[in-house]
Amino acid sequence: MRVGVLTGGGDCPGLNAVIRAAVRKGVTEYGFEFVGFRDGWKGPLEGLTMPLGIPQVRGILPRGGTILGSSRTNPIKIEGGVDRIKANMDQAGVDALIAIGGEDTLGVATKLDELGVPVVGVPKTIDNDLNATDYTFGFDTAVNIASEAIDRLHTTAESHHRVLVVEVMGRHAGWIALHAGMSGGANGILIPEVPFHLDEVVGWVESRFQTNYSPIIVVSEGALPADGEMVTKDQSLDAFGHVRLSGIGDWLASGLEARTGKEARAVVLGHIQRGGTPTAFDRVLATRFGLSAIDAIAAKDFGKMVALQSTNIVRVPFIEATGELKTVPLERYEEARPFFG
Ligand code: F6P
Repeated sequence: MRVGVLTGGGDCPGLNAVIRAAVRKGVTEYGFEFVGFRDGWKGPLEGLTMPLGIPQVRGILPRGGTILGSSRTNPIKIEGGVDRIKANMDQAGVDALIAIGGEDTLGVATKLDELGVPVVGVPKTIDNDLNATDYTFGFDTAVNIASEAIDRLHTTAESHHRVLVVEVMGRHAGWIALHAGMSGGANGILIPEVPFHLDEVVGWVESRFQTNYSPIIVVSEGALPADGEMVTKDQSLDAFGHVRLSGIGDWLASGLEARTGKEARAVVLGHIQRGGTPTAFDRVLATRFGLSAIDAIAAKDFGKMVALQSTNIVRVPFIEATGELKTVPLERYEEARPFFG
């Protein structure tokens, strides 16, 4: 058996750990050969390959990013894209694919599976918003980075009696904001699932100053003010066609400064959250996903995504994972509310 591997979408700490585990077990236990497809779905679409075997995966476990490269190329949107993928798989002698990615990459895998391409999926996103898996690797690393940043920002907030607004990633789901905000002791957390009222955030900020401490507000990039409060800021569509405010952190900081009379600053953590070495938790999760993905290939159990459910790695049909996103339930958000203000 010859197995093609690709990584699609945004990079994520732990991608290399998945690749390493799948290749190590595939070669040593099943006698498989591997081909690396470069830059996400662009690789099989354009026939861009690279050698992939034990020598290529040596030493990559702690490395962030992906040795295969990544892109957001979507072959389903390209005329003849699926036929080109099938032809290039034949050309490279590839019998089956492991696709490691988030909602978009696995959405393509779902379509290819329906069209008869043997493919197994591995869930990846720092946003932790994929269904059917309790956690995705990369999330723990992103939360740790954001949490450390909040610890550091507390000292500046206190020294300058300022409001510090920390904007974290999360286009559709507030998992990073919720977990980083809780672990960093934020005085307010704003997430896409729960539209916020500026008045309420002003209240949190003022009550925090009354206790002689300075507030930290953590906001997901996809968080939005409730209807009627958007008039002060231009809306735009992001690359994925979703309505968003550009720079919600800046918008919030300037709104809070104007309303409270206290200096406010916004810090956008951005891609720092996706970079660098994965935490031990993410290395273990990614490794277990890679091992399970190659077992699925060996069992010809295609059209499935590996997933973490409780402490077990299981395989679920693609459709369970890609149907809708896993957003933060209201009750999880409400748990954090006693710390607001
Ligand atoms: O899906 C992961 C994610 O990190 C989102 O939180 C973020 O909005 C997006 O990727 C950014 O993508 P890009 O690197 O293409 O700007």
